[in-house]
Amino acid sequence: MRIVLGVGGGIAAYKVASLLRLFTEAGHNVTVIPTDAATRFVGVATWEALSGNTVSNSVFDDVHLVNHVRLGHEADLIVVAPATADLLARAATGQADDLLTNTLLMAGGPVLFAPAMHTEMWQHAATQANVETLRSRGVTVLEPASGRLTGSDSGPGRLPEPEAIYEAALALVHGLRDAAPGSPEAPLFPLAGRTVTISAGGTREPLDPVRFLGNRSSGKQGVALAEAARDAGASVRLVAAHMEVPAPSGVDVVSVETALQLRDAMLSAAAGSDVVIMAAAVADFRPADVSGTKIKKRDGHADPVVSLVRNPDILHELVTVRDAGGTSQLVVGFAAETGDAHGDVLEYAAEKLKRKGCDLLVVNHVGSDKVFGQDHNSVVILSRAGSEPQSASGTKHDVAAVVIDRIGAELSRVFPRT
Ligand code: CTP
Repeated sequence: MRIVLGVGGGIAAYKVASLLRLFTEAGHNVTVIPTDAATRFVGVATWEALSGNTVSNSVFDDVHLVNHVRLGHEADLIVVAPATADLLARAATGQADDLLTNTLLMAGGPVLFAPAMHTEMWQHAATQANVETLRSRGVTVLEPASGRLTGSDSGPGRLPEPEAIYEAALALVHGLRDAAPGSPEAPLFPLAGRTVTISAGGTREPLDPVRFLGNRSSGKQGVALAEAARDAGASVRLVAAHMEVPAPSGVDVVSVETALQLRDAMLSAAAGSDVVIMAAAVADFRPADVSGTKIKKRDGHADPVVSLVRNPDILHELVTVRDAGGTSQLVVGFAAETGDAHGDVLEYAAEKLKRKGCDLLVVNHVGSDKVFGQDHNSVVILSRAGSEPQSASGTKHDVAAVVIDRIGAELSRVFPRT
């Protein structure tokens, strides 16, 4: 495979020499393009010796080879490590002031950035906006590792280990290996290069300017799923109804209030997504009439009666749109069930899976003290293909990790990368 390895001007550039070794020892042809700043940390001679190719960052070297066009065009993969705040900004704004940024603009294949910088720089709104811009364009931007940084400080901002970057890069190009989730052979970033759209939280249906009909959903499970999908390498779009927890960093967020708004946001975010997860608690009904002014008590008048109308079934609609378009997309629903005298939780869930038509249904057993607002959860995952129900329990993060692993395995089985 032809790989371009862009190296940014950070101290972590020295670790990228090991990454280069991993690529060349696996037989790949690597062209290293360091920025000028990068060569102040690790010199051109090191990159040339380790790659066996000439190294430059000038668009005016070997002009007859038209390198500023050819390298990006021919590369099967571009990896940028360490991706500094400056390099992320230049890539996000499409600048082309050196050979590396020209090459990024010419990229025809997958691109992966492995950021490294001080925590404050990583968490700065400007950097986060640049990361979001790049991810929205299908570029994979890994989360930096946490730990000791250059000075005495520590926190998120360390370059991920060369092996982790290598693994993510291969997952991006070759797709998933057929390894059991969680096994030592399983890829570290099973959703690298995939886009995942998730709804979370509870909708609120207005009655008048001060009142609404809502539900007990806290959004914790949906947020945990968004984090797990992001950490598995996916670009994540989160459609957030009312939530008691903040949206995670590194995901695109669209905020909504009502079921109808959530429907519109999900239909538009789902287009172009590999996975759609409906974790939101959607109100099945909304008030038929919404008063423009506060509804008052009036002595001598009858108390108001609220009439409800049905909201659309968004999950079912997402499946219908997916099927009509013939798109390769995995649709995942959640089911909140209590069971009753007529059927138990799993009977109702199996019937719901059929009715909704989704590929996987994550079933919660709900009760007044269970699930809503709690930090722990216990679920059973049912599949349309009829495989054995899979149980998972623990914190909502533990459950999210199992659900995302399962989604990764289903994706590689049903829609393997070409
Ligand atoms: N859902 C949806 N649109 C609705 C209601 C629910 O997309 N109007 C989604 C939820 O996000 C969830 C799944 O459908 O992924 C199941 O939700 P649940 O409340 O368990 O089921 P309902 O369809 O509301 O069925 P019932 O109330 O009869 O149990």
